[in-house]
Amino acid sequence: MATDAPAPPALEPEIRALGRSLDAAFPSAARRPRAAAEDLITARLARRPELRAALFRLVDVAPACRTPADLGHHLAGLLSDVPPDDRAALLGRRLGRGRATAPLTGRVASVGIRQMAGRFILAEQPQEGAAALADLWRRGVAASVDLLGEATVTPAEADRYAARCDEALTILSREAAGWPAQPILEADSAGPLPRVNLSVKVTALTPMIREAEPELGVADAAPRLRHLLRRARDLGAHLHVDIESMASRETIMRLVLSLLAEDEFRAGPSAGIVLQAYLTDSDEVAAEVLDWARRTPREHPLTIRLVKGAYWDHEVVEARQTGWRPPVFETKADTDRNFERLTRTLLDAHRDGAPVRLAVASHNLRSIAHAIAYARSLGLPDRDLELQVLRGLGDDLHDALAAHGLRVRAYCPIGDLVAGMAYLVRRLLENTANDSFLATRAGGADLDTLLAAP
Ligand code: FAD
Ligand code: 2OP
Repeated sequence: MATDAPAPPALEPEIRALGRSLDAAFPSAARRPRAAAEDLITARLARRPELRAALFRLVDVAPACRTPADLGHHLAGLLSDVPPDDRAALLGRRLGRGRATAPLTGRVASVGIRQMAGRFILAEQPQEGAAALADLWRRGVAASVDLLGEATVTPAEADRYAARCDEALTILSREAAGWPAQPILEADSAGPLPRVNLSVKVTALTPMIREAEPELGVADAAPRLRHLLRRARDLGAHLHVDIESMASRETIMRLVLSLLAEDEFRAGPSAGIVLQAYLTDSDEVAAEVLDWARRTPREHPLTIRLVKGAYWDHEVVEARQTGWRPPVFETKADTDRNFERLTRTLLDAHRDGAPVRLAVASHNLRSIAHAIAYARSLGLPDRDLELQVLRGLGDDLHDALAAHGLRVRAYCPIGDLVAGMAYLVRRLLENTANDSFLATRAGGADLDTLLAAP
């Protein structure tokens, strides 16, 4: 649990210069009016906890509302705690209560929720998203497609999710074969990189996740994941397994590392897992994964996607309910420092010959600039570091990174709003949090503060 080792001071000028250069490549607010309006809403929600709470409850109840008037009445109820100086919220409350105005208010709220979701979700079906993926590729941005779905409760649902993943691999492989060459996106010093990259969630592949009995989930998910690994291998695609909350972590780690060590997967597919820097035991997990990679000969290096962690609020609430110490850091700067330290650990390991590739996934300019500067300080070529962003949050950033000749990938969810509800709530939670990088930036913080060492 060491978060204290700071970035080497000699790197700071380079980190700031890189951060400034990336920031300068972002389009101005005038060229991105919709995103600028969304930034304003984000900053406002970060300052108004009661509005933020109302929004989450509304998103939560929306799928269960039978009529627009229902949704309008719910909105009015949820806005009842908003202070009297908030005129927009007061108006929403009045209109949501009115018998004549409630249906229209509900319809407007429903359109708003769909628009919000549309920012994060690429399409409902893989085929519908194919043109947007091709467009990203032409702009110098690779993708990892995520089929929305998680926390499956029946075996039939898990089978359906696996079938959707299989279908997506088939469709995307066919589409990607026609894309033009993009040398930066297609190889690093370890060799070729697949064009098709699919992210999967193990909690959607089995209803048997039990924190105290991880072997149940491993046994139940293994046939479905093994099938997807075979399909990815045969199609030359990359399969990435997301890490979710602590309740499933042990299952996911055991499952992925044991299947990838099987003889039949020695030659492929290219595959990867995720490391969450907000976990206080992330050091041990990193050591375990690096040790596994060194001991397990495979043709494709294991890709490690380093993230901060998307389940922070959930982990803290769960721990409070049980009276246990949360498994996550409780100060944002601790997570940020740990993210930088793990970035250095993983890049050091790569330089020293461990068969791993590093993907740094963040929207925080400081975290990203630190990774690029450190990789360069080790003498690694830029193509050995992948940068990843989430669709809807990192759109300007991925263009700025591509314009700098860096390798970048956007995580693109595909699916319908009901399947995507939990994903949407996580995005809203983290981006309207007071100390989130994006909310702080949207609130007008100056660049020096944003690029300062955590
Ligand atoms: P920042 O604003 O710099 O960081 C926000 C993060 O800091 C929060 O998400 C949280 O992790 C942490 N944090 C917030 N408040 C506190 C606090 N008080 N104390 C301690 N820490 C705090 N997440 C997963 O869990 N699993 C995945 O598989 C996964 N895949 C991803 C793939 C991609 C391509 C990307 C870009 C992100 C992915 N994430 C995943 C989400 C990621 O974990 C972060 O939630 C998200 O990127 C926000 O972090 P940031 O660095 O962009 O922003
Ligand atoms: C999530 O689903 C991006 O995997 C991350 O929140």
